[in-house]
Amino acid sequence: MERNITEEINRLKRQKKAILLAHYYTPAEVQALADYVGDSYYLAKVAKNTDAEIVVFCGVAFMGESVKILNPEKKVLMPDMTADCPMAHMAQIEKIKELRARYEDLAVVCYINSTAELKCHSDVCVTSSNAVKIVKALPNRNVFFIPDENLGRFVQGQVPEKNVILNDGCCPIHAAVSAEQLKAMKEKYPDALVLTHPECREEIVALSDYVGSTAEILSYANGSENKQFIICTESGVGYALEQKRPDHEFIFVTDPFCCADMKLNTPEKVLRVLETEENEVLVSDEKRKRALLPLDRMLEIVG
Ligand code: 13P
Ligand code: SF4
Repeated sequence: MERNITEEINRLKRQKKAILLAHYYTPAEVQALADYVGDSYYLAKVAKNTDAEIVVFCGVAFMGESVKILNPEKKVLMPDMTADCPMAHMAQIEKIKELRARYEDLAVVCYINSTAELKCHSDVCVTSSNAVKIVKALPNRNVFFIPDENLGRFVQGQVPEKNVILNDGCCPIHAAVSAEQLKAMKEKYPDALVLTHPECREEIVALSDYVGSTAEILSYANGSENKQFIICTESGVGYALEQKRPDHEFIFVTDPFCCADMKLNTPEKVLRVLETEENEVLVSDEKRKRALLPLDRMLEIVG
């Protein structure tokens, strides 16, 4: 990346009171430019507490949308408006209505990787780092977990006292990892610990030493005595892992392990939206007010 892009971005950030947030899955050169890099939960909290006037969010659509819902007075810009998470759309409102009619005490628990429309029909949001804690804390016994079947199943395993109803949706990137691929890597690197995002399938979780969100994987690797790790999540997290522990070896279970949507964020596009203030995330007032309820409830429960 040319040095003048970085300088120009920094100048515009100061001039416009803008802040740059980036998810761990964005390209390394974008993470290097960001004021805050983190997982979905951390970035939602940063966005909620910032006094910046403009938030440039490097991630996918549901993340920018969540920032706007939490901060209606701020201008939220996305470097690429086509960056979307396919899983965010993988649940049916009709199915929610059907289950609400069937179970009187149903709680609809919505992974933050979901459209604002789905949040409008949900009781509480969760991220991969707080889903277990939140489901445990709910008074409801029956829980419909949307949209991710794999995270839902992981939560179900940790909270056996609840009836967690699973939905037919998944992350096409994480769900593509096969047990054969992981077993082959484990054979090749027998001393490595396997660290896995809960969006991976059940058999991958079963073969892992630790399961957690991107931020939790980072802090586990950071605190571990082990030197070698097989990482079952998107390779963008390698940038932060290597920065934190240059003395460790991180091997990704597949190559590439890549979310193409996250990679649509580039320094050039960040500069362009800062210059033009194009690509503003807009959410109608009615939708915003309804979708805010489950997000606020998540922040209330886990702080
Ligand atoms: P985190 O909840 O770890 O930020 O993950 C978000 C995501 O998109 C995973 O695929
Ligand atoms: Fe969505 Fe999967 Fe990409 Fe995460 S990695 S943003 S869940 S498609």
